[in-house]
This record gives sequence, C-alpha cells and structure tokens, in this order.
Amino acid sequence: MTHPRRILVTSALPYINGVKHLGNLAGSMLPADVYSRMMRLLGHDVTYICATDEHGTPAELAAQAAGVSVQDYCDEQYEIQRAAGEGFNLSFDWFGRTSRPANHALTQHLAQALESQGLIEERTSKQVYSVDDGRFLPDRYVEGTCPTCGYEKARGDQCDNCGRLLDPVDLINPYSAVSGGRNIEIRDTNHLYLLQTRMQDRIREWVNSKGANWPSLAVSIANKWLDEGLIARAITRDLSWGVKVTDPDGNLRPGFEDKVFYVWFDAPIGYISATQEWAEANGKDWEALWKTDKGADEVEYVQFMGKDNVAFHTVSFPVTLLGCGEPWKTVDKLKAFNWVTWYGGKFSTSMKRGVFMDQALSLLPSDYWRWYLIANAPEGSDAAFTWEGFQSAVNSDLANVLGNFVNRITKYCVSKFDGQVPANGTPGEAEAWMTAELKERLPRLIEYYEAMEFRKAAAETRAIWAAGNEYLTKAEPWVKYKSDVDAAAVGVRAGLNLAALFGIIAQPIIPDAAKKILDALGIPEEHRKMPGAAPDTDFAALLDALPHGMAISAPDVLFQKIEDEQVAEWTERFGGGN
Ligand code: 2FM
Ligand code: ZN
Repeated sequence: MTHPRRILVTSALPYINGVKHLGNLAGSMLPADVYSRMMRLLGHDVTYICATDEHGTPAELAAQAAGVSVQDYCDEQYEIQRAAGEGFNLSFDWFGRTSRPANHALTQHLAQALESQGLIEERTSKQVYSVDDGRFLPDRYVEGTCPTCGYEKARGDQCDNCGRLLDPVDLINPYSAVSGGRNIEIRDTNHLYLLQTRMQDRIREWVNSKGANWPSLAVSIANKWLDEGLIARAITRDLSWGVKVTDPDGNLRPGFEDKVFYVWFDAPIGYISATQEWAEANGKDWEALWKTDKGADEVEYVQFMGKDNVAFHTVSFPVTLLGCGEPWKTVDKLKAFNWVTWYGGKFSTSMKRGVFMDQALSLLPSDYWRWYLIANAPEGSDAAFTWEGFQSAVNSDLANVLGNFVNRITKYCVSKFDGQVPANGTPGEAEAWMTAELKERLPRLIEYYEAMEFRKAAAETRAIWAAGNEYLTKAEPWVKYKSDVDAAAVGVRAGLNLAALFGIIAQPIIPDAAKKILDALGIPEEHRKMPGAAPDTDFAALLDALPHGMAISAPDVLFQKIEDEQVAEWTERFGGGN
C-alpha cells in the first residue's frame, strides 16, 4: 500500500420529503458508498458524511398536507430515510440533519462572515402575497393565466403550455396553489442578496484550478454559469421553517423576523455541520477535514451528486466558502451523474412507475439492487432501469458467474478434501494463466475506482470472477482427482483462494454477499483488504494465501435467480415498459 490518504466523501443531501427512489440512490449516495468502501479497503482514512436536507417549502407543505408540525414531519421522515440507508448498507460515518443546531449556527455564522466581507446586501423586491394563506408565495406556488399564451394553469416560474419562463407578478388572475385563494396582492419585501457578481473572477480562477479533476459535464455546467455572468442571488425566503437570520449576538435581524435562509444556502453548509456532529459524537477533529489551516489542505474532498446539483456545488457553495474570508476546504474531485430513468421515462409514485428504496428492500436484499445500479450507473448518459436488465444482471453476473463459482469450489473441497485447504501439489500452467489475469486486472480495477468509473469497475469485477471460472475449466480439479489427487489439490487450493479474492473485491458493491463468502472461508478481518495496489504485489501468492489445512465451509446459496414470474408480477405492481 502507498501512504494512507485522508479522504472526505459527501453525497448530495436527500430532501427530507419522501423516500427516495432507486434513481436518486444511484445518482449520489450509492456510488459515494461504493467509493468510500473501496478507499477504506485500500487502507485510506475515509470519512463519509451525508444528511437529510430538511428546510424549504416542500417540507412545509408536506407537513401541512399531513396535518402535523414540520418538526414532527421531519423527525418521522428522517427516521424513514435513515432506515432505508441502513437497509441499503450505506456506510455513512454520519447521517445528519440540516435542521440540527450545528447547521443553524454555522449557516448564521457564514452569512455574517459574508456580510462582513461586503458580499451581502439587503434589497427590496416585489413578491406575490396570499392574504388567504397569510404568507408570501414561492414562485411555483402561484398559478394563473399565462400572459403569453393564455393558458390558465401556468405556474409562477414557468408556463407548462408555451414553455416561457415567467415572473409570478406577471401572471393574470393569479391564485395560490397552496389554498386556491385568489386574494392576492403584490407586496414589497426585503431579502438578503449574496453578491456573487463580485466573486465572478475568483470562482473562475478556482474552477480553472480544480476542474481538471472534474468530469467534463461538471466543468461545462460551471463554465456555462460563469459565461452567462453570476448574478446577485436572494438567500432568504418568507418562510417560518428554516435557519433564522441573526446578528453575531444571536438577535433576529430587524425586518427578518418571519424570514429564513433559502434552503440552497444552508443545505451544502450541512456537509460541514454534519461533520461537526460526527466529530462531537466520536471525539474526532472536524477542523482537520474542513479548515485548510488545520490540516484540511491535505485532505482529498470528493463530492457525489446528480447533474442538477452541479451548479450549486461548483459555483454557489464555493462563493460562500471562498467569499467569507475564512480558510475553508473546497471540493477537489467531483462526480456528477445523469439520471436513472424508468424505462426511459420519469419515476412517479402516482403513476405507479418505479421502485422506491423501501419497496425495493421488500422485494430483494440490497446487494441485488446495488449490483445492478452500479453496473449500470448513469455515467455517460441517462440509464434506463428495466426489470429485464435487472433480472439478467442478477442471474448472470451474481448467481451464475460469482455464486456458482464459490458454491462449486467450496462444496467440492468439503466433499473431497474434508473441508480443508489442501496442501499438496505444484502450480502449473493454469495457475500461471490465472496469475497473469490478476496481474493485469486487479490494478486496472483499482484505477477504475480511483477514477470513479463505476460501470467499468463493476465490469472489471465481473471479468475477474469470469476469469476464475475459466481457470477452473482449465484446471479441472474434478477430472484430475480421478488420476492425480495432488494435481486436483492445486486447483482446489487456488479455487478457494480465488473465492476469497472474489469476496474481497466484491465488498464495495455487494457487501453482504461478500461477507458471507469471507465468513464461510474463515478470512479474518485484517485479511480482507484490497490487494494489487502496491507495485511489488506478488500476484502468484494470491493463489496460495490461505493457510494449508485451514477449515472452510460452503456458504449458503449467495443469490437466488430472479424468475420470469417475479418479473411479471413486479412489472404489474411497479410498472414496466408500456
Ligand atoms: O437535489 C437535492 O436532492 C438536494 N436536496 C441536494 C442538496 S445537496 C447539498 F448541497 F446539500
Ligand atoms: Zn404560456
């Protein structure tokens, strides 16, 4: 192993309202987990942080619809999301909440710091006020007649009929989408504006310095925003649920008593505040990860997100961190994903299209989903979930290629070699072939992980499993056993070692099955690390690493095949191709 690196990983914070669907999972939390697991296996010091993104209008409205307080609503939803993350084996070091005191305090602090740098200004604007609701309405909760095409249900931000972007104050006959109330007034309201305009050059310079480690998708999104010119952005809203606007003494800012920070201002700050919560609970040093004058300059900070979040992470959040005059760590590597679609279309609960995280776990264990979603990660373009693709990935890759290999070799060892790693025999051509495969493939697998190329990492993992099957075909211990038990022993020994290796490399993507394999083979925890990174790795030794004579057992069936009847039933329940 080369020197251990300190790696901070964050995945986009899921909105609190509603369980996430498989597409959300595949576009940030799952790959972040797989990456964190591999980096830990390589011996690095990884901290993986996530949290629920709890503020904003949707949470308020969802709570209102459910007839509970926003706090109670969020408490309940947090628990559901935490459990779903646990069910999917997401190895967060901490799963926090942006509604917690640490995030409020840090958000208030950073806003004050930005103001002291001359980057925040109070401005007056006109906004739609609903007298019936007793509140200002966010743009998309005002509806009315489109001034361009006359469509009567145009939303305040955009007309779905003619596509024109709108300003809600221009709607004709506006009404509240919250209550339907038509008692609408246009009132003046004050908000805090973040003067991003003044950070244009600084952000451009920063993007240029960091962009080499970002995918082109992320660089082009950041540049598009910069080329269009950054604008001053309102960072407060007329809402009651959120982070209050205060002065350094903790007093509410006059005129802002009924306002809070905009959810996209406080949400990314949640990455830091959740790290603070983690540090507090575990006696760790959060500043060593987040303050460049406290050691964070040596940390690799890796962010995972869907493409719709890129601008916020490459422009808006950096404005906060770089503009506040304090030495904060900013992102080094950024991985952005396209969408997972449901047969090419959108996931939708109401239209019965798609599977949500909790439903998925009621159908099959998490490894099945994890494998399919990583092997088909939406990297170069959107990727369609299909039941047929899912069935084929599980049946072929997991049940046949991996499951059968492990099952066959362990059972054979139990029946012919008393369940002990055989000691006899000398390796020959087949073992040399397998060694060469490992020598070529293991370093490549690690490279794919380093590059965060998840589809390729899964394909290489599968290719290594497939090479193991080919090896057994060449070594054919079951045939040799009849005439030369020692020759068969070589094949069984190498086969068992390969089964262990296959379990080791499977750990990031399918941790439960990997554990079953490694437990059955009696591999101690300290020998479950990823081999192949060191330039002087002895690849031949990987086929003879288990102590001779060590007792092993055959694991239970690792993966059940998905039957056509199941596909038919799930298609009926959750929707399919038509
Ligand atoms: O798009 C989303 O799901 C947002 N809740 C992501 C927030 S990421 C971070 F900045 F908090
Ligand atoms: Zn229109």
